[in-house]
Amino acid sequence: MAVILPRLVFLTLFLHLIASQQINGSVSVGSSLTATPNAKPWLSSSREFAFGFQQIQGTDNFVLSIWYDKIPDKTIIWYPEGRAVVPTGSKVDLIRESGLVLSNPQGRQIWTSGPISDLAYGFMNNTGNFVIVGNNSPKIWESFAFPSGTLLPTQVMAKGGVVNSRNTNFTGGRFELRLLPDGNLVLNTQDIPTDYTYAAYYISGTYDTSNSTNSGEQVIFGETGYLYILTGSGQRFDLTPRGALPSGDYYHRATLDSDGVFRQYYYPKNPTDNTSWEVVWFVPDNICWSIAGDKDSGACGYNNVCSLDGNRPICECPQGFSIVNPDDPSGDCKPDFTPSCDEVEPNNGGEMFDFIELNVVVYNSNADCWKKRLPLSNGRKETTLTKAFLKYRKGSVSDLPPGTPPRLSGGNKDQRSLILVGSVLLGTSVFIIVVMTIVICVGFFVIYKKKATNTYPYTKTVNTNLPRFTYQELVTATDGFKDELGKGTFGIVYKGVIGNEIVAVKKLNRVVQDCEKEFKAEVNSIAKTHHKNLVQLLGYCNEGEHRLMIYEYMSNGTLAMFLFGEIRPPWKQRSYMAVGIAKGLSYLHEECSSQIIHCDIKPQNILLDDYYNGKISDFGLAKLLMMNQSQTNTGIRGTKGYIAPEWFRNIPVTVKVDVYSFGVLLLEIISCRKSLVLESYDQGVAVLTDLAWDHYQERRLDAFVENDLEALYDYKKLGTFMMVGLWCIQENSALRPTMKKVVQMLEGELEVGEPPCPYPFSITS
Ligand SMILES: *[C@@H]1O[C@H](CO)[C@@H](O)[C@H](O)[C@H]1NC(C)=O
Ligand SMILES: *[C@@H]1O[C@H](CO)[C@@H](O)[C@H](O)[C@H]1NC(C)=O
Ligand SMILES: *[C@@H]1O[C@H](CO)[C@@H](O)[C@H](O)[C@H]1NC(C)=O
Ligand SMILES: *[C@@H]1O[C@H](CO)[C@@H](O)[C@H](O)[C@H]1NC(C)=O
Ligand SMILES: *[C@@H]1O[C@H](CO)[C@@H](O)[C@H](O)[C@H]1NC(C)=O
Repeated sequence: MAVILPRLVFLTLFLHLIASQQINGSVSVGSSLTATPNAKPWLSSSREFAFGFQQIQGTDNFVLSIWYDKIPDKTIIWYPEGRAVVPTGSKVDLIRESGLVLSNPQGRQIWTSGPISDLAYGFMNNTGNFVIVGNNSPKIWESFAFPSGTLLPTQVMAKGGVVNSRNTNFTGGRFELRLLPDGNLVLNTQDIPTDYTYAAYYISGTYDTSNSTNSGEQVIFGETGYLYILTGSGQRFDLTPRGALPSGDYYHRATLDSDGVFRQYYYPKNPTDNTSWEVVWFVPDNICWSIAGDKDSGACGYNNVCSLDGNRPICECPQGFSIVNPDDPSGDCKPDFTPSCDEVEPNNGGEMFDFIELNVVVYNSNADCWKKRLPLSNGRKETTLTKAFLKYRKGSVSDLPPGTPPRLSGGNKDQRSLILVGSVLLGTSVFIIVVMTIVICVGFFVIYKKKATNTYPYTKTVNTNLPRFTYQELVTATDGFKDELGKGTFGIVYKGVIGNEIVAVKKLNRVVQDCEKEFKAEVNSIAKTHHKNLVQLLGYCNEGEHRLMIYEYMSNGTLAMFLFGEIRPPWKQRSYMAVGIAKGLSYLHEECSSQIIHCDIKPQNILLDDYYNGKISDFGLAKLLMMNQSQTNTGIRGTKGYIAPEWFRNIPVTVKVDVYSFGVLLLEIISCRKSLVLESYDQGVAVLTDLAWDHYQERRLDAFVENDLEALYDYKKLGTFMMVGLWCIQENSALRPTMKKVVQMLEGELEVGEPPCPYPFSITS
């Protein structure tokens, strides 16, 4: 006894000492944590929140994060997006001059909270906020200012604030929650590499056009767990319904989940064995329906079909398709079969069902129906109203492209599945609506990355002398960015004056920060392009976070304004323009020192000079804005309606994507019709390329050009242009001609053959 007692006292004292080191939540300068399985995190004084490394199950990797330490699954609420996952042995330090610094086992810095002065200590607050406290300031940095998918009570989101959706690998997902400058809280999808924002699928409506003080100013997560929008005049717009929260002691959080639904959850602080996070409120009501029309591929990826289970979207590839990335069931699906234009394969002994084909028809309430082609977007299942038929023919497994895992195992199953689909669709009351807006194409970004690293002529170009401007000079030149000329995928364009010359100044969207050298190289390679049909780059600015491009000013607006305005422009002018644009593109593809793929050819990107010459703008930018991002992104997209369908076939993106877009553009120039006409919100779109093929087959060019007599008198040229257009939009990129050939054909130097059906996928029987 006499021996044991002092030891116990000592032990208790010792334990007490260890505990008290952290009991007040503060983290002193010089502290560090190492990513090892048993490492202790920095705890808040309540011990409810922890900052540190959490091991990712089944791997040797850790995620730098903040989590609920008293909840068994240690739910993560914060991580530095895109930089959080690190290997064993990585370290995070709290350093006086640099704040939080995350480095890998080799000591290389991976992430930092940013340059900091005046640092006093770090603090893991009981609210779940990690704060860096200064000697003269209560907050130099806080994790609450950089939310990663989750908001917590006491957190406030100001105008302009953005929360990216969670995803499984701790990068930022494709959904966003934003409080817009106009006061609306919205949810939307985004195209990650280009930052292109699709139309919102949830809008709070907290926007008063007549009196802006009544518009939303802040999103506030109250201490008691109620989430609301506060307007400028102090009014409260409830998000969490009043009285919805259980009374008692609960944790609360609101998370934009990886499926795009924004949910508020609670969890009892005194849990029982089977406790889990319960949903108290969520938007939108039905995400399968909300993301439709002009809003990306839908809640699920392309060719994927969405159905709702409670508030959770379930994504399932239709029969004959399989998921591109098995780790991402809500991603894109690709067909398991090779497309063919023929109805019956002649070499196969006349058997009718020799290949699988898929054809989709959608009936609307007027009992109209129309054909859709791949890739399908906004697929969703419903149990009411309308029905649609997914139809395909069976195919031999040998028809599958190499490397495609057959979805149907065993040869005879094809027949069986065909019957199954038939009976599910027709025999039961489960109707499937596959409402689809048409065709977006995505390239595989990896290819761009490859291109980029191969072709940067670092040493050659860095010394060319393209004028470089300071940001301040451009502020002056544009009179404080007052006169906006237009908005594009890559940024906003302003009118400016430099010397006596009117110029267009393009403020680029987010460009990757730490690639100064590549930026210069790329800008210089753009500057080296000189062609009558390309908008000339005159200078640039590269200062801190500011990246701007100065272009020659184009007085006559865009080709879109010209083609789709009130008056139909003359055929002569249109056909002349088409040849010019083809020449410009051919130059980019074949005559530049390093090949430039435009990636976003569309009439909004063709500008007209004083003499109505069409000039291509924005070339080179796709590459520029996607540099260095290949680790987090796999897909790029241009603009709906102009994008080649390569994306669902795992094949490299080449200059042929531009040829496709040019084909669509050419058909627009011929017909003065837009490539996509949104007929009504839910019914999908009429597609110019389909119309062109139909009219061409029926030899009804008069109908296609709406009796444009000038064009019809020039019938040979019209026919040629039409055929070239149809060659360019071939789904099979190998069939598309090069731009050089396109120019020769348009100018009549090269004979044009009969184009085949451009869309082998969408054959009718
Ligand atoms: C927390 O406790 C440590 C000693 O354990 C002390 O040095 C520090 O000043 C305390 N911090 C706060 C914010 O109370
Ligand atoms: C911790 O959170 C509380 C409640 O929001 C706040 O009053 C306090 O200032 C925070 N502490 C620090 C160091 O930021
Ligand atoms: C705008 O609304 C606020 C509060 O509702 C009101 O006090 C103010 O007078 C209004 N301003 C105008 C210009 O109507
Ligand atoms: C937990 O389990 C018990 C018994 O199995 C059950 O009665 C109770 O409803 C469960 N609670 C929850 C929240 O599921
Ligand atoms: C992260 O996940 C997203 C979707 O879940 C995927 O598109 C992306 O490629 C992944 N990134 C990495 C680095 O694995």
